[in-house]
Amino acid sequence: GGTPDKLRHVESMSELPSGAGTISGISAVVLGESLADEEHDLIFPSAEFSASALVSSPKQYKEMYERSIKDPAGFWSEIADAFYWKEKWNPSEVCSENLDVSKGPVHISWFKGGKTNICYNAVDRNVEAGSGDKIAMYWEGNEPGQDGKLTYSELLEKVCQLANYLKSVGVGKGDAVIIYLPMLLELPIAMLACARIGAVHSVVFAGFSADSLAQRIVDCKPKLVLTCNAVKRGPKPILLKDIVDAALVESEKNGFSVGICLTYENQSVMKRQDTKWQVGRDVWWQDVVTNFPTKCDVEWVDAEDPLFLLYTSGSTGKPKGVMHTSGGYMVYTATTFKYAFDYKPTDIYWCTADCGWITGHSYVTYGPLLNGAAVLVFEGTPNYPDAGRCWDIVDKYKVSIFYTAPTLVRSLMRDGDEYVTRYSRKSLRVLGSVGEPINPSAWRWFYNVVGDSKCPISDTWWQTETGGFMMTPLPGAWPQKPGSATFPFFGVQPVIVDEKGQEIEGECSGYLCIKKSWPGAFRTLYGDHDRYETTYFKPFAGYYFTGDGCSRDKDGYHWLTGRVDDVINVSGHRIGTAEVESALVSHPQCAEAAVVGVEHEVKGQGIYAFVTLVDGVPYSEELRKSLIAKVRTQIGAFAAPDRIHWAPGLPKTRSGKIMRRILRKIAAKQLDELGDISTLADPGVVDQLIALKDC
Ligand code: WTA
Repeated sequence: GGTPDKLRHVESMSELPSGAGTISGISAVVLGESLADEEHDLIFPSAEFSASALVSSPKQYKEMYERSIKDPAGFWSEIADAFYWKEKWNPSEVCSENLDVSKGPVHISWFKGGKTNICYNAVDRNVEAGSGDKIAMYWEGNEPGQDGKLTYSELLEKVCQLANYLKSVGVGKGDAVIIYLPMLLELPIAMLACARIGAVHSVVFAGFSADSLAQRIVDCKPKLVLTCNAVKRGPKPILLKDIVDAALVESEKNGFSVGICLTYENQSVMKRQDTKWQVGRDVWWQDVVTNFPTKCDVEWVDAEDPLFLLYTSGSTGKPKGVMHTSGGYMVYTATTFKYAFDYKPTDIYWCTADCGWITGHSYVTYGPLLNGAAVLVFEGTPNYPDAGRCWDIVDKYKVSIFYTAPTLVRSLMRDGDEYVTRYSRKSLRVLGSVGEPINPSAWRWFYNVVGDSKCPISDTWWQTETGGFMMTPLPGAWPQKPGSATFPFFGVQPVIVDEKGQEIEGECSGYLCIKKSWPGAFRTLYGDHDRYETTYFKPFAGYYFTGDGCSRDKDGYHWLTGRVDDVINVSGHRIGTAEVESALVSHPQCAEAAVVGVEHEVKGQGIYAFVTLVDGVPYSEELRKSLIAKVRTQIGAFAAPDRIHWAPGLPKTRSGKIMRRILRKIAAKQLDELGDISTLADPGVVDQLIALKDC
């Protein structure tokens, strides 16, 4: 329930950030069920929190924000100066960009001419500054009681050993390395080792299937694949090496063979003698890496040299290799981490994301380490052995910043408060949310129950493409509204546009775009700059188009409303409906498939698939299962459809385009909101679909 204390009553709202308009009509701030109109529910950081915050008032934010917009070069240069650069960037080229396709190719660059290394800045620099004995990473295994830790000096040694090994087998600057590992410390170590020698890492989430892994291998042609033999997720062992083996066979069929598969022996789960092995290709990590020196020279790279590729979903079946570069990404992830979580050197920071996603790149590995933070890496799942695991971990490590996803909040909320209140959680100071819009009731539960009504929630809106936070509360700066990502980060200019690409001001809703670049922006899609321009810069001339819908309320707060393209967000995992469709139609008995997102109590969105079978094939439970299995093997278990809806025909326009709008309404059971169906080639299919909804 709501705890209305610890809230400050405000007299004057004139201090709110620019673009915030004026907040009027709010005479008191009340938290809790009594307030029907959730949007006007303002929640203030305590005076004590604000007093020691990095940004402690709307006024201070406003000044910094305005400077960042008026003088981006000056603003970001000052911040970048705090890092180590082997060679300083060219002061006249802090930022150069063209986001307007009509004026030539789209390009973005930051700190041109500068030479640096993100691994050096994240690890060596902290050791050299005297923090060598500080814990860089705590590790909590799948089983309670299984744990480990590394100081910054130890981390440096591990990174150097692996970097030396990689060099010894010929991996060098610009070479791709695929990392397919669970949340062992070896995963961030591997990312850092690649960065140290200028190799380009591409982490593939270890929940992806062999087919998906193969697709990525064929696309980026890595010199080497890094994996481990097996891992346990909850009670279940997963043989990762078998998946990699299958992927390597598959990629060979598609014309690319990987020379080395460096395999970490995860001894507590599986012994090496039980692991399938291909002599000549497979190498045990423990046999080779530890023989290498613990010092390794840094490869100084250009600020615009690629740092990593991360494949993400778009509106076609082929995943996109989002490319980030070194200098701007470094400055941006470090700065966003620091301000959004109001980072203090004494903090113990835990982000529940996996390094297989962008959140794990920017806010498990790079952002926190660049700040010299102590980061907790968790291998397990939040409900194993029971739903209290997260709070057990919070108490064990005295976690002060806890960053997670709404889907986890909702699932733990369903398990009941007792799992939370059984633990003290008194170390918690700041909470964070990412991945999808957080619904106000989950926000409140997170705030009141988990955070004991004292921890601000940083609801960070951003994307794989943006590298770091784009909109987020700064915890000590201004009041929050449950479910709103509030205001832009420094240097970010969000605009809401209508269908024609016209900016709309004031209270409104429309398509969310960004004007001007920011240091953490992605620079291209690997091997497909055309797709980069077409997807992101052509829809609304002169802007980066995010793919998200957004509304702005009368107080200037931003409310993300979800994707407006064919991408869905399932448990915070981004999935292209086209990818699921292509997996379904690869089933020999499936003629056609159309996939839409449907509201799901825990996952945020669930996957709802309309499937047309090959003529004469009867629908059966067995077939339903085998269709779902097909998606699991082609993409991964996290993309398995929640519902299969038999569709003798799909609603199509006369030109053959599937009208997903109608399918979304049928899936949501909003049958009175189907709208105009007269333009369909055969309007009769709609009734047919509705009649079959329960098959
Ligand atoms: C959604 C994850 C609302 C959004 C970092 C975006 C959010 C997509 C939020 C990117 C948030 C992420 N509020 N929506 N706080 N955070 N999203 O690339 O639809 O996996 O476009 O990056 O997630 O997903 P991605």
